[in-house]
Amino acid sequence: LAVLNRSEILSGEHVLITAGGTREPIDPVRFIGNRSSGAFGFALAEACRDAAAQVSLVYAPSSRTPPSGVELIEVETAQEMYEAVESLFASATMLICAAAVADYRPSTVANHKLKKNQAPLECIELVETTDILAKMSAQKENRIVIGFAAETDHLLEHARAKLIRKGCDAIVANDVSRPDSGFGSDTTVIHWISACGSEELPLMTKRQAADEIITRASALRSKAAHN
Ligand code: CTP
Ligand code: CA
Repeated sequence: LAVLNRSEILSGEHVLITAGGTREPIDPVRFIGNRSSGAFGFALAEACRDAAAQVSLVYAPSSRTPPSGVELIEVETAQEMYEAVESLFASATMLICAAAVADYRPSTVANHKLKKNQAPLECIELVETTDILAKMSAQKENRIVIGFAAETDHLLEHARAKLIRKGCDAIVANDVSRPDSGFGSDTTVIHWISACGSEELPLMTKRQAADEIITRASALRSKAAHN
């Protein structure tokens, strides 16, 4: 049996990746957002592209430039991200959810700029967004679906609970309270958590971590394809 080298490990695969932090509008000038830079998702898209996969990257924009050589689908809100993922999922063989998706959005969006003096705004009513990872995992069939868990505390406990709750094949957990592993950092310490247990990887760049992730994802995919 030939050993595939890194440059062809995902040949024949169509990898769908979510990246960046969604923005949920309050009015035409304001939104609820988060600190995701999109860096990890972009690194994953590059790693998959370099491993010969067809790549579709559904991303909420940040200050970083998205990679070239992949299909780019720019979105803003959680709902737009969900709709884009849903329409591409049928042709995908893997889904990697690296985006920081807002858990809630304002229930109504004002069509004009809210003025602080006109209507004092003590609270904004929020409604839950669709959990893209959970929803897609429920219909994954023999696709490989991977989620992320960015945590500040009880990392493994939260990440293992997410693996079960979301129903995905693996969770990449990282401790975002570490300065060398958090938002905007180019390096990371990840844990790979699957049904087989958990594995801590050493400090490395997000691109190196992306290569480690796709090596493991492709092993899961070979297993799924032979079942
Ligand atoms: N995710 C998603 N859609 C959402 C929320 C999360 O696809 N609406 C995905 C993320 O892309 C990530 C995984 O689910 O891969 C875990 O996200 P996270 O925010 O850590 O999990 P939650 O279940 O939202 O839990 P919490 O925010 O309370 O930690
Ligand atoms: Ca969340």
